Order: sequence, then structure tokens, then C-alpha cells
Amino acid sequence: MAGRIARSFIDDLVSRVDIVEVIDARVPLKKAGREYEACCPFHNEKTPSFKVNQQKQFYHCFGCKAGGSAITFLMEYDHLEFVEAIEELAKHIGVEVEYEEGGRSDPEQQRLQKEAKTNLYDLLGQCDRYYRQQLRQHPRASGAVDYLKNRGLSGEIAARYNIGYAPPGTNIEQAIPGQTEQLIISGMLIRKDDGKTFDRFWHRIMFPIRDSRGRVIGFGGRIIPEQNGENSPSAAKYLNSPETPIFHKGRELYGLYEVRKALRDIPRLLVVEGYMDVIALAQQDINYAVASLGTACTTEHVQKLFRLASEVVFCFDGDRAGHEAAWRALENSLPGLQGTQQIRFLFLPDGEDPDSMVRKTGKQGFEELIDKAQSLSQYFFDHLREGISRHDLEGHRTLIDKTKPYLQKMSDAAYKTLLIKDLASYTQRDERDLHGLIGSGQGPEPAFNSSPPRVSFSSSNNQQLPPSLVRTALRCLLFHPPLASELKETESLSQIDQPGMGLLLDLLDILKTNPTLTTAALLERWRGTIEGQHLAKLATWQPTLNDPESLQQEFLGAIERLQAQHLSARTDTLLAKANQGVLSPEEKTELQTLLSRT
Ligand code: GTP
Ligand code: MN
Repeated sequence: MAGRIARSFIDDLVSRVDIVEVIDARVPLKKAGREYEACCPFHNEKTPSFKVNQQKQFYHCFGCKAGGSAITFLMEYDHLEFVEAIEELAKHIGVEVEYEEGGRSDPEQQRLQKEAKTNLYDLLGQCDRYYRQQLRQHPRASGAVDYLKNRGLSGEIAARYNIGYAPPGTNIEQAIPGQTEQLIISGMLIRKDDGKTFDRFWHRIMFPIRDSRGRVIGFGGRIIPEQNGENSPSAAKYLNSPETPIFHKGRELYGLYEVRKALRDIPRLLVVEGYMDVIALAQQDINYAVASLGTACTTEHVQKLFRLASEVVFCFDGDRAGHEAAWRALENSLPGLQGTQQIRFLFLPDGEDPDSMVRKTGKQGFEELIDKAQSLSQYFFDHLREGISRHDLEGHRTLIDKTKPYLQKMSDAAYKTLLIKDLASYTQRDERDLHGLIGSGQGPEPAFNSSPPRVSFSSSNNQQLPPSLVRTALRCLLFHPPLASELKETESLSQIDQPGMGLLLDLLDILKTNPTLTTAALLERWRGTIEGQHLAKLATWQPTLNDPESLQQEFLGAIERLQAQHLSARTDTLLAKANQGVLSPEEKTELQTLLSRT
């Protein structure tokens, strides 16, 4: 395996690529003052609130709050994964991606790996064509065709999902000759201990699984129920491709590519359990369903979904297994959830799955069910309140204790505040007290998200508050990173204990060694973290007076005041100690120095 992409490579890439050029090629931009603008490609609007800043190498939409670097843009707009976006940008400026591997990358090995993967994509593409052809012409395919017709599928839907047929017997090696080893790696062929090979999929209906670019990366194969069939009665209903270099079940969602092809705007996504659920819903013109591939919905899945839509509805059977899967999905979603993202839960009546349900209700009826789905908060508290019979103080205490670990893991202050509001009403407690009780957990930068909402960094509660000094320094620095060089030393700052100070120091530290980083390149360091979300918000700030001197004054002024505040607080502490007569000799000297300053 190649290692991670080298940090210095990402810095360099983000500085060398021009974000204006990258975005303009996809969304034509107009110059507007010091920035470029367009109607936002991520939400519907008539007047442009999507801004691209060439100097910061950063884009931001004031309407839907989308924003980030050129890498983020390609991830959002072209629906690429992080590494794919980097590869795309590297290709754009004609350089090879550098990976870390024991400090150094091996270009030859990288090339071979890339080639091997390309071959696998090609190979599975060939398998896909072969299976579709077999569905049309193999003498035994009629059982599969009848089965699909009986389940109400039209030829059009079968074609949209590229449904195919794997005939009985050993075929794939003859169909795609000379590729035995690759077929084994791709999971299509299995080699037994005696060296003989046989097809994994044998007389099955084939569902190709495609990645975000539409490349086939694996298959699901369904048994065809019939008398005297080729499959033994004990055979599994579904067989799936194994994990391979190009297929990772925890990352992929069945039907996502097809959703994106069918819809330009995806207001919401429905997550169901089965291949046939996705297809049956599409057959009823509900074109926004995807399925996880026989695994629980992972954090990565959820992130992927929210990159495309702002609302995700999980749809599960009403039985115990369904409830267990739903709770796991909730657990995997909660930590990364952001204020603009909505999650809801739909539990179907016992014995129904989306496929059977939608055939009864039709499109409209099913969408009414979706509209009535439980909110995340409803489901969350319903689940946690189960088994708490008492509605007295003790019951309330138990609910708070059960809720606490989940809330502590949440990164978004606004979302957390929302759940705390509901918790307050269930437990008849004051919201403020609950914020205090729940605290922050052990995030990487506790000071940033431990504060109660009054002074929190979230935008929901701080309209009336002037920005803190740390925040002022941060946003000046993000607006114009070279300001960092104005500071002679940062040693004295590291003594200061204030929310966000650690982050400010990290930023200064990075800029000391990389003084030419753009705002976007800086933000890349915090990709996917809570701090990154705070910084991205701060990076959208514009100074009222746009001249270098006032900016510098504002920045240095904030730093000086931070230092002054710290020194006066320190003086107070030492004076108090002196009054109690517990001052050490060093502290005494320190106090004298402090007092002689003014
Ligand atoms: P049918 O309607 O019976 O065709 O299936 P379904 O699409 O409704 O799927 P179901 O709800 O029975 O199962 C949900 C998902 O779990 C399937 O799409 C498969 O991914 C997976 N699955 C189901 N049965 C099996 C099995 O026997 N083996 C494996 N590996 N996966 C299975
Ligand atoms: Mn089913």
C-alpha cells in the first residue's frame, strides 16, 4: 500500500492550483470587486451568494454555507473522494501525487498500484457487460427475466441499474480469457485448494455496484427461486463481492451513482437495506434511494450522503433487527452531524420492507410516510427513554446520564444545543444547567467546544457578542496569513489559557515554517475536524476597513490585549496569594516584575 499523501505535497498543490480556474471551468464565474462570484451550484438561488477568493484560494457560499479549498470544491461538485480530488488537481497541473512511505515515495510502485486498480475497473466493466448480455441471450436466463418481471420491474429500470445474469457453470474465465489472476483478485473467481477455479456467481441475478464515477467495483448476486434450480437449497439469498482493492463495503452505497444520474438536485436521500428495495422504489419513481451493502451504515457513508443532500432519511423494517440497525446508524451519524444536516428515521410496519410497502402505497403514499418520519431527536430520546419507567428526578437523572456520552461526542454546537433543549423539556431542567452538566467530553481542543452556548463558537447564539480576542486574532490571520510574521515571539502566548488559544498557536506555528501558505492550504490541515469547521467560519470574515495597516493594527492589538489581560490576571492571582502569605520566592520576584510594569 502506498502511504498517506505527503502533507507538503498538499500544501504545494493547494498553492499552485488556481481555485478560480478550477471552479470557473465548471461554474462560470464573474469578477465582483476583489472576489469572483456565481449563483451557488450547491443550492438553488437567483442572486449570486457564492464567492471565490483568489487570494485566500477559498470559496464560500453565504446562502448554504458551503465552502473550502479547491480540493473541497472538487469533492463537493465532482463528487470525488479526498484522494481522487487531489489526483484530479495534480493531473490538472501536470504533477504526480507524492505519498509518504517511510519518508519517501516509490513512484514505480505507485504506478504499478494505479495500473493494477485501473485493470480491475476494466475487468469488472467487462464482467458487467458479459452478465447483461447473458440476461438477454442465455437459454437459462428466462427464469431470471420472469422473476424480475414478477417483481414488477420494467425493462427500463433493469437497464438503468444494469441488471444482469450470471449463468450456471464456469464461464467467466472463458468470457474474459487470460485474466485468471486478476479475476481472482476482483473476487469474481475463486481458487480452491486443489488449484481449480470456479465462478463466485452461479445462476444468479446480478446487481452491479458502481462507484461515484459510475465504474463497476463489485456485484451483488441474488438467487433465483425455482424448482430444480442449480443452486442448493441452503445457498445464501444474496452473494456479494468480497472486499477488494477497489471495493470497500463501508464506503460504498448501492444506487448512489444512479441517484445522481437521475436527479440534478437531490433534496433528500433515503437509505434502505436491500438492492431490491432501491430498485422497487425507482420503479415507482422514487429516485433517491440507496442501500448500504449488507453492513451497518458507517460514518463514512453518512458523510458521503451529506455531501449530496441536506436531508437523509433512514428507512428500516419495524422489527428488532431494523431498530438495531437504525440505532447503529444514529450512533455513526451523531458525532459528525452539522447544524444544516437533517436526519430522520422511518420504521415500516412489521413484515414490510420498502419494496413491498411502495407497491402497496404507490409513490405518493410512500412519500407521505417519509414526510411523517421521526426526527432524529424524537427517535434519539424515544430510544433512550425506553426502559426508564420513572418520570421523577431519578428517571430524569438516568436520562441525562444516558444522553451525556452521545452529546459529548457531537462536534456541532448548534445541533447539540437543539438536543439539549429537548432534553431540558424531558427532564424539566434548565438548559444552561444541562450544558454545564454535559460539558464537552474529551475533544482534541476542549476549550473550543466546552463553553456553554452563551460564549460558544457556534453562530446560533452569539449575535450580540463582540468577538473574543482570540477569535479576532484568528480571523485576521485567516484573512491574511502573512500577518503571522509580525509577531516577534509566541512563547508568551502559550502561557495564556483561553478558548481557542491552542489553535491560534498551532496556526502561528505552521505559518512560521510555511510563511507563504494560503488560507485554503491552512484550512486543509484541519480537514474533517471540529476545529476545521470553526476556522472555515472565521475564514469568511472580511475586515470593514480593507487596508493592510488597519488589519495589522487589529491583529497586533488583539494579541497585545490578550497578553495584557493575561498579565493582569496573573498579577491578581499572585496578589491574592501574597495576601494569604503563601508566595514562593520565585513568585515574589515575578510579582515585583509585574507590578513594576505599570
Ligand atoms: P429480496 O427482496 O428478497 O430480493 O431482498 P431485499 O433486497 O429485500 O434484501 P433483504 O432485505 O432480504 O436484505 C437486505 C440486504 O442484506 C440485501 O440487499 C443484501 O445486501 C443483504 N443480504 C440479504 N440476504 C443475504 C444473504 O443471504 N447473504 C448475504 N451476504 N447478504 C445478504
Ligand atoms: Mn425485499
